[in-house]
Amino acid sequence: MNVRTVVRAPQPIEEPSSFAADVLAGLAAKPKHISPKYFYDLAGSALFERITELPEYYPTRCELGLLQDNAPAIASLFPARCALIEFGAGSSRKARILLGAAATVETYVPVDISGDFLQQDVAQLRRDFPHLAVYPLVADFTKTFEPPAPIAALPRVGFFPGSTIGNFEPHEAAKFLRNAGAILGANAVLVLGVDLVKDPAILCPAYNDAEGVTAKFNLNLLARINRELGADFDLGTFEHHACYNREHSRIEMHLASTRRQKVRVNGKAVTFRAGETIHTENSYKYTLEAFEALAHGAGWSPLKVWSDGLFGVLALARADETKGN
Ligand SMILES: C[S@@+](CC[C@H](N)C(=O)[O-])C[C@H]1O[C@@H](n2cnc3c(N)ncnc32)[C@H](O)[C@@H]1O
Repeated sequence: MNVRTVVRAPQPIEEPSSFAADVLAGLAAKPKHISPKYFYDLAGSALFERITELPEYYPTRCELGLLQDNAPAIASLFPARCALIEFGAGSSRKARILLGAAATVETYVPVDISGDFLQQDVAQLRRDFPHLAVYPLVADFTKTFEPPAPIAALPRVGFFPGSTIGNFEPHEAAKFLRNAGAILGANAVLVLGVDLVKDPAILCPAYNDAEGVTAKFNLNLLARINRELGADFDLGTFEHHACYNREHSRIEMHLASTRRQKVRVNGKAVTFRAGETIHTENSYKYTLEAFEALAHGAGWSPLKVWSDGLFGVLALARADETKGN
């Protein structure tokens, strides 16, 4: 049997937790907050792609450079006839580098919460890699999900680029890594990208670009709430704020109300003081040592680390599999 047959049927869709319930709970909380996973509807995913092209946004350029320069070394860590599972695949641009270098990957499973964007990208991926089996999975990676049945017998490699792990609180990052270990199974390798602590003079412009694309990305969250939850946010009365919180080594993104106002969301009234913000994203920055310690505590041991000083790509192995090596 040719196991590299193109498989076009998408996997069953896992419903993300209720957008309405999460938004209303976050807007009722003090301080107000909404999870960054809700940035990513079709418009939000397209805006994120524009961010990756911005001159100020160094993480994508750094990570692409590290992956391109080290693709054969990364691919050499993959087991024979494996499945590559990417968490938060977006455009799959980075996976393409690994897929081009790793002939051992039989099956690619891009997992993303942004279903429409994922399906668009998968169509192109199948044209570009006609012999690869591709099983897109619309799922929330903060929850446990069942990988597609056809990869049940294959060893698995996880891929989590984009420093998306930095969007978690550190204890949530550890929880994600443990969950990924359970999904990937024994002998798994996990390759991930981590943004590193650095001079705020480099960090801050990356989230405050001159063209205002990151502001549009942040404000699209309110536009999405208007579209999907019948809300009446006036986008002209909210500002994008991004600043470095040195104490917590994280960039914080907020949407700040420029005036006192009342907004209706899903039939409920939400009030804002002038200057009050909705906290929409954290992007934690790690030292390599701190991230390796976090991974270790979550059951993963570093196999190899590639870094340009600004960004790190780490290959991790399940800690139990590295014992005695
Ligand atoms: C920062 S972008 C990174 C995209 C791409 N991997 C890259 O490196 O350029 C985060 C990606 O993860 C997806 N995502 C965010 N939260 C998610 C969640 N809870 N479950 C599944 N996908 C999620 C988004 O839709 C988006 O494609």
